[in-house]
Order: sequence, then structure tokens, then C-alpha cells
Amino acid sequence: MFDIQHIRNQFPILDQSVNGKPLVYLDNAATSQKPLAVLNAWQKYYTEINANVHRGIHTLSQLATEEMELSRRKIQKFINAEHDFEVIFTRGTTEGINLLAYSLTAWLKKDDEIIISYLEHHSNIVPWQMLCERTGAKLKVIPIDSDGILQIDFVEKNLSEKTRLISVNHVSNALGVVNPVEEIIALARKNSDALIVIDGAQAAPHFKIDVQQLDCDFYVFSGHKMYAPMGTGILYGKEKILRELPPFHGGGEMIATCSFDKTTYADLPFKFEAGTPNVGGNIALGAAADFIESIGHQHLQNHENALLEYAQQKLLELDGLRIYGEKATRTGVVSFNLEGIGIASDVGMILNKIGIAVRTGHHCTQPIMAFFEIAGTVRASFAVYNTFEEIDILVEGVRKAQRMLS
Ligand code: ALA
Repeated sequence: MFDIQHIRNQFPILDQSVNGKPLVYLDNAATSQKPLAVLNAWQKYYTEINANVHRGIHTLSQLATEEMELSRRKIQKFINAEHDFEVIFTRGTTEGINLLAYSLTAWLKKDDEIIISYLEHHSNIVPWQMLCERTGAKLKVIPIDSDGILQIDFVEKNLSEKTRLISVNHVSNALGVVNPVEEIIALARKNSDALIVIDGAQAAPHFKIDVQQLDCDFYVFSGHKMYAPMGTGILYGKEKILRELPPFHGGGEMIATCSFDKTTYADLPFKFEAGTPNVGGNIALGAAADFIESIGHQHLQNHENALLEYAQQKLLELDGLRIYGEKATRTGVVSFNLEGIGIASDVGMILNKIGIAVRTGHHCTQPIMAFFEIAGTVRASFAVYNTFEEIDILVEGVRKAQRMLS
């Protein structure tokens, strides 16, 4: 049974007024709110357990270690990884991608190629550009059409022995477009030895991820967009590749032995987890996975898809409203502009005055904005606790903004 009120009751933050109106929180692609189960897991750690992990003989340290390793196993199950040690705790998607871009430096040489797509967040562009600067490799970019759909025949045409890496997002943060990563991976496996990285920051909150079925080499995502605290995230990698990859950060936790002559590295996953981890956050991330699974991926997805369809249908009733990626398969996001109103943030400010939180601007995807020749969009993004009534309020708000700004 999908009981929206029961779900909303688990998010006390939603029950408040902003500017004298009930809060309508539609900025979930930036960060989702956190349910009581996640807040309680975090608080329990700090009120009852707080101790450092992995190196303590005392009871609290052992408890902290057990809880954090239990969380790792929960995430293993959440993404269907083969082994728990393939799940590495990070601070978020950005750190996961930077870790890979740094650790893969020796994987590339001059004139090798990295394929990304037009739909990437800056965090899946800039680290690869920096890697190209270090190695002399080149970036190739999968184009999109006017609906924001990836033109994947580009992948087939451009794959060669030079292609060493492909990194694409599963879902576009700016448009919500769900990319055909399965097809891209199948093409890559057939025609190259490229390593495949999937940025799942906007996918993990919305549908079931199965890394074994996908057959990607790496999958990265953030905790805070999937109901967990900020400063948490996951890098999944296939065991064989993680074993060969050098570490990113050096420091405590990640060594087997350390002397001035030579240091040897710890086993997986610790080789990639230097320093004291975000133990409370990592434990709460496991609670967030439990929360999603307690609702059920299918229920969550059905509800969010129905919200998206309803929002799209209602918004398109407004004259001169353009949805970017309108015809593409999407999840969680509707990104739009109003004809004649050049500044998306003006619409956002009017919506904020009536309690509606949306994001406006380029959403850290300036190439997409350049493609559509716009400075930014208004982006409403959904989570499992949003309601159809909230969509009605959004649509009325946009109507009002249109009247005021025209
Ligand atoms: N990457 C986040 C977003 O798209 C912050 O809003």
C-alpha cells in the first residue's frame, strides 16, 4: 500500500510555512529532505555510539565499525553489487568522479579518448577535462537532439581502440532525461576496452539500480539526493578494476604498512577510504536505503512518474511554456521556461514568495543551456513525498508569475 500521508509524516520539515504559505518543496534534484528514520540513525550514532571505526579495541569503536559495515552491506544490496568491498564510501558524486579521474591517470596516454555526453553535470565534465590536461587525452561528446535525447549512433561511430573511458549520467539533473546507458554499455563492450563510469546521482533516488545487470565498471551517486545526509556518497567499482587502481587520497586507514622507504596499501574498500570517514552519515545512508526499500522501488517510481506526467500535462496548458526534454523519457524533473520571460530566477522568486521551492539557473550544466541558447530554466523536481495538490499549487504559481512578468 502506498500511503502518501504516512510518508509525509516521516518528513517533519515539510510541515512548515514559508512566506506565510505551506511549503511546497520541489527542489529535490538539488537535495531531498530526510525522513525520521535517517535523522534517528544519525542521532543514535552521535548520542549512543560516537567513536572512530576500524582501529578501536573498545566497545564503542567496535559498535561504530559494525554499524558502518552493516550500512555498506545495505548499499551493496541496494545496488546489487557482487561484494560489499566493491562499495566505497565517499563524500558524494563529485568526489567519486574526481577519485576516478585521478586514479585513472595512468590508464590514459596522449591522444586516447574519453567519451562523455552533452547532458553531463559539470562534475562529470571538469574532472575528465583535468585528466585530459594531465595526459593529453581528448574528450568526445555525445550530442543531443532538440528533445535532449542522446544521439547514441555517435558512440558506435566514435568507438575505437583509442576510446579508454566512457562516463555518462544515468539521468540528467537539468532535464530529468533518462539516458540509454544499457545500450551505451552494450556498444562499448562490443567495440572497445573502454572503462565505463555511470553517474547515478539523479537515478539512485528514483529507481532500482542493479550494477551487475548494467555491467558498468563504476557507478557513483550521492546520499543527500536519496534521503540521506549531505556529505555522503558511494563509488561502486568492479573488484578486479578496483584492485588494480591506485588510491586517490593517502593517509590513515588506507595503508597496510607504512615506513619511510615504502608504504603498502590496505585491502578493498579501505584503500580508497583514507582518513576518518563520515561514520554517522554513512550509517544514516544505510537507513535511507532501508527507507526507500520499505516503500518499494515500484511504488516510489509509479508515484513519481504519475506526478511528472501530471505536472507536464498541467504546465503545458499554459501559453508559451516550453518544457525542455518534453518528448524524452524522464524521471523526477520538469525543466521549463516561459516565452518572453528571459530570466528564470524572476519566476523562481515569485514562486518562493508563495512558499514554492524550485531551482532556477543553469543547474551546473552550462553546455545544455548553450545548446538550447538559454541562460537557465525553472526546474521543479520531485520526491516520493510530493503530492498532486502541490503540482496544482506550482502550476497556479507559474500562471501568476507569467501574469506578473508579462
Ligand atoms: N547537482 C545538484 C542539482 O542539480 C545540486 O541541483
